Amino acid sequence: MRKKVIAGNWKMNMLPNEAIKFIEDFAPLVKDTENEVILCVPYTDLFYALLNVQDTNIKIGAQNMHFEKSGAYTGEVSAQMLKSINVEYVIIGHSERRQYFNETDETVNKKIKAAFENGLKPIVCVGETLEEREAGKTIEIITNQTQKALEGLTNEQVESIIIAYEPIWAIGTGKTATSEDAENSIKAIRDKISQIYGQNVSKRVIIQYGGSVKSSNAKELFEMPDIDGGLVGGASLKPEEFAKIVNFDK
Ligand code: 13P
Repeated sequence: MRKKVIAGNWKMNMLPNEAIKFIEDFAPLVKDTENEVILCVPYTDLFYALLNVQDTNIKIGAQNMHFEKSGAYTGEVSAQMLKSINVEYVIIGHSERRQYFNETDETVNKKIKAAFENGLKPIVCVGETLEEREAGKTIEIITNQTQKALEGLTNEQVESIIIAYEPIWAIGTGKTATSEDAENSIKAIRDKISQIYGQNVSKRVIIQYGGSVKSSNAKELFEMPDIDGGLVGGASLKPEEFAKIVNFDK
């Protein structure tokens, strides 16, 4: 049985004092869940967040990293740097990074490899645009992105990865994919992984849905057979709302 994994992506929000207050309010609300709870916070919050989740069941992730170990890459942060302060997860290839910061399937693949080499667990984002969806290309786009992201990884690495299917038209728009639609896309990603790496691997991979997840739609989405939780943007900024999403099965 795969675990449900609910991750918040704070994007470029929350100052350290707000992060500390959030964790103080949020931790008691989710302490009894059996689901995995992750907060992916801005770099400037990482250290404070890590200190404040000690003795809780909350895990901390970053939202990006560079694939090189070190060197002349002004403004970048390496996987080793994240690992050195005990960050556990890292989002890779979010559509906002692909769109605004020139991330490609190739850099995504390099970053995933660097994350694994340094003991970080990658949360890899894939998703189609509205035009791609309307042209009937959703499955082709997301299975291609998945295949390219995973290229050259071992079976053990693939089965421990988290994939977040985030249709771009659903991000921050209030438009959610229907649970059937999301299930359909996620099942297609799982089938692709099965084709390449075998069923033993594909049945273990956690695949989340992301895009306007809220407490009012989380249960319906997360109870679909192939949807293993969610990557949550806006609704993860409010402790009570995000706790309701984490506790969707209570
Ligand atoms: P929203 O939940 O705000 O739509 O954002 C989704 C997202 O991009 C999470 O990574």
